[in-house]
Order: sequence, then C-alpha cells, then structure tokens
Amino acid sequence: MCGIIGCVSKENCYEKLLAGMKRLEYRGYDSAGVALLSDGKFAVRKRRGGVSGIAGAPLCGDTGIGHTRWATHGKPSDRNAHPHVAGKFALVHNGIVENHARLRAELEAEGESFLSETDSEVIVRLIARLYEGDFFAAVAAACARLEGSYAIAVLCSDCPGEIVCARQKSPLVAGAAEDALYVCSDIPALCGAASYIAPAADGEFIRIAEGKIAFLDAQGREIPKTFSRVEPCAAAETGTGSFMEREIAAIPRALEDTLAALRRTDFAPCARVLRGAGKIFAVACGTALHAALAFKDAVEGEVGVPVLAHPASEFRYRDPLVGEGDLVVAVSQSGETADTLEAARLAKARGAYVLSVTNIAHSSLAQEADFNIAMRAGAEIAVAATKSYNCQLLCLYYLAAQLCFFRKTRFPAWFAELGTLPAAAREAFGCFAQMNELAARLQGAQGMYFIGRDSDVRTAAEGALKVKEIAYLFAEGYCAGELKHGTLALIEEGFPVFAVATRRALAKKCENTLAEVSSRGAYTVLFSQYEDVLAESCADAVCRLPAVCERLMPVVAVIPLQYFACRMCVLRGYDPDKPRNLAKSVTVE
Ligand code: G6P
Repeated sequence: MCGIIGCVSKENCYEKLLAGMKRLEYRGYDSAGVALLSDGKFAVRKRRGGVSGIAGAPLCGDTGIGHTRWATHGKPSDRNAHPHVAGKFALVHNGIVENHARLRAELEAEGESFLSETDSEVIVRLIARLYEGDFFAAVAAACARLEGSYAIAVLCSDCPGEIVCARQKSPLVAGAAEDALYVCSDIPALCGAASYIAPAADGEFIRIAEGKIAFLDAQGREIPKTFSRVEPCAAAETGTGSFMEREIAAIPRALEDTLAALRRTDFAPCARVLRGAGKIFAVACGTALHAALAFKDAVEGEVGVPVLAHPASEFRYRDPLVGEGDLVVAVSQSGETADTLEAARLAKARGAYVLSVTNIAHSSLAQEADFNIAMRAGAEIAVAATKSYNCQLLCLYYLAAQLCFFRKTRFPAWFAELGTLPAAAREAFGCFAQMNELAARLQGAQGMYFIGRDSDVRTAAEGALKVKEIAYLFAEGYCAGELKHGTLALIEEGFPVFAVATRRALAKKCENTLAEVSSRGAYTVLFSQYEDVLAESCADAVCRLPAVCERLMPVVAVIPLQYFACRMCVLRGYDPDKPRNLAKSVTVE
C-alpha cells in the first residue's frame, strides 16, 4: 500500500526514482509524484494516476523522493498526491496516521493551512513546525507525536544530499549501489538498482547524508547494521501480454525453482517444534489464506492433527487460543501484509513458534519469524496473485510432509510425486483454449459460483477471488453441499456454476449438486482429472485436468481458473495487472 522511495545519486536522480517507482507501482497507482532538491529548492511533479503520467522532461537534482499512492485518507487527486511540501520540507508517506485529525486541528489552531485531505500532510507540517535547524531532530520529534503506521522519507531544503526516513509498522529498507544510495518500501523494487540492502526495524530511522547510510534510534545514536547482498531477483516475467498472463505462464518454472529450494532447506532447526508443537495454527490473507486452508486439509488428512486456519485480520483481534509451545504458520507472498505480520507478532509474544512462508527472503515477516521457508516464485508484479499461490501450496504441502515425517517417522505417499507438479502445471495449459471460449461465452454474466468439496473448495474459493479481483464480477467459492441451504435461491437461467471435482470419493456428490443447479437452469462446467467422472456428468461443458495425485491437485486445478479470470478481465475491458481499489502489498490494516 503506497510505495515510497528516496535516492541520493552521484548524478541526477530523476530517472532512478522513476524506475524505482515503476517497480513499486503494484503498491498503488492512484497517484504518483516526485520531489527533487536542487540549489535549496524543490522541484515537484505529482499527478493522479500511474507513474507514466508524471514522466516527462527530467527534473533537476541529485537528491529526491518519490511515491506511488493507494488512497486511504483523501480521494485520488492531484492535490492529495505525494510528496507533500511544507516550508523547508518535502515528504512521502506509506501508512496511516491514526491521530491525524487531532494533530491537524492543533496545527490549524496554530495557523497552518492544509493543501490536501491526507493524513500524511500532518507529518510534514509537524516537522516544519518543530524544526530548529536540526533536520533529524525535527523528524524524530514529529514521529514521537504520531500514532499508527508510517514509513516516511523526508527532504529538507537546508540539507542537500540528505534524506531522513522513519519506520513504524510499515516496511522500509535501505539499499546501496556504486552510484546511488536508496531507501524504499520494498526489496523487489531495489532489485537491479542496489547491490546491498538492510531493512529497518520498527522505531528505527535511516539517514542518508554525506554519501553514507546510517541507521539511528530516536536519540540519533547509530545502530549497527549488516547489509546483505541483494539476491538476484528473478526479474519480472518478460514477454508480451499482461504481467498476469506471463506470471501464469511462469508457474511451471516457479514450481521447479521452489521445489529445488525446498529440497535444499534444512528443517532440522525446527524439528523439535514440528514434532512436539501443541496446537497448530495457519494465518494469512487473501489468496495466501486459501493456501493456508489447503495446508489445514493436508495436515489434518495426513498427520491427523487439527490445524486452526484463520484470516490473519481475525486472528489478531479475537484473542486466539495460542500460547507457549504452539506453532503458527504465517503465509504471505510479500512478507509485509500488515495483518499477517501482526498476527505473527501476537503469536510470538504469547510464546508460540512462528514459521513463515514468504516469497521475499528479507521481508519483515521472514526476518521476524523463527523459521522461514523461502519460496522461489520470482517477482510477481500483477496485483492478483497467481504463481505465488501455486508455490505457496507447494511449500505448504512440503511442510505438511515434514510434519508427517517428524510425527509419524514416514513421509506421505505423495511426497515422491511433488516432482511431477511442474510438468502437470504445464499440461494444465492445455485447458486454456477452452477457458478462452468459456470467457467469451460468459463475459456478460452477472455473477457466478465456484463449488467443490474438501480441498476443491479451496480451489473454488481462489477461482472466485480471482474473478472478483480482476473481472469485477460477483463470484463466490462455495462448499457444494452448502448450496442448497440458501444460495440455490439465486440460481436462474444461464447462471454459471463451475464445479471442481478432483476427489474421486466425492465426485458423485458433486455431480448431484451440479444436477440440482442444472435443473434450475444454471450453465455448468465441471473440472476433473477423471475421464469417467467427466463422461458421466450432466455438465454443459467439461474440462479435463492433468492427472496428479489427489492431495496435490489444488496446485494444478487452479491454473485453468486463474487463466479464465484473466481472460474474463481482458474481454470485459479491464487491466488484469492493476485492478481498481486494490494494491499488492497491503501494509495497512
Ligand atoms: C492483497 C493482494 C492479494 C494477496 C493478499 C495477501 O490483497 O492483492 O493478491 O493474496 O494481499 O498478500 P500476501 O503478500 O500477504 O500474500
């Protein structure tokens, strides 16, 4: 949510800022803006819309800050775009200042007038008020008055070559390159720009000055930090079409890379916990939550131990029954999702062991967890998650197999079949021609259902989420057996119902549900790997999935649905990479 970047360069930093902002754009695209400092003056360019909207003749300055906005306080507009300027200061902010109304009233009473409706402008006006000639001290004093979450980068027109930043509950990382020093919201946005990075912890400040990066506490005392080499990020998928299409096309490769990394992962450091943890929880948001639910299915089915899977946003506020000796598995592509991070922190504070599954090795969640499984999906740019979901499932099945090993001294039978998943994923692309036809046929639908039983419900829920996220169509993923308890009332002539039936033992039950909706006029599509199940179905259309062992099927069965949603989106005239109102990294509650 909102991307911030700051750069002090040996040359003009405009292009570097813009390139970084392009890489940050998935954090928000309501507006974009930069401020560069040159000869004691700010050159500001900011506008509603994406980064391309502010491209143009380079602004002058070797020190600058940039912002991509996901609007919270104040609608998307030129006026509300960052950077915000007050007196000698320019600021970009990611987060939410929860006491902004009180601070604004105080500042207005002191004679300040505000130019925007944002909570962020409060910070820069506060800094300007508190400034007595010491840039860092003014920022630190202002931060002491803020409640909520923030990562800020601030310029002062008295201080050429200097940026002061602060972090509280919103990600912030420093990066060093030969020709420039950076601060940024995201590690992936520094890939290709910086060679070494170091993330800031909550309550820490970063000052770039005199060609050096320093981490400081609120009193200005230096905090020693070790910079690590930026892992060569798999660059964003190249090729034509949207990032989402390219990322779907990259699923087999992402699975191969993730499996290779999993095989190198040493689980010995968490063996004691895997063997002996009391309760097991899984927490996540959005797509990652569906992966967490599939993990629950696998562990309960294979290990015979209950797993309590919760949306992270619920877990953290429901006084969960988590305590000493429990295991909490936190799943997050970005490793920065605020609710997942806070859920993990709560679990740790109560004495539980936190194991994270992330796509970003140095992310906040990976750093704070006791143990991290780093998947290798590669950079995911499209806001709606695709290849990261398939890789999350793979990691979580791998983890379920480890739990099985440590608790039952054997791996599940399907453990040896994990290696077949990349080829099966590739084979699932064979369904795409049919998905194109279905999308063309159903693009005008008012809504649709995705149904299944057992783990197929996870696939159904993820298929529905994709359709909602990017095709802006009401869609629901539902337990097939629940349909008749109310939801069936909504079925009318032509209403699309997609059924996923990959569990042979449950296929007949699913067929019965399809018959019930068909006889009420629904347009039905059945997905299964079993020829006989497809042949005997009353469905209007059937799609044969690759044959994969049933437990691992969610990794593959979702692929046609991901692609279908993408095609629906394009045919309905939308951009799959930048769905309205959404952002990829949700670092606010
Ligand atoms: C946002 C994204 C989703 C993602 C969710 C959780 O809502 O749009 O695609 O599933 O955040 O993100 P995470 O990085 O924690 O997996």
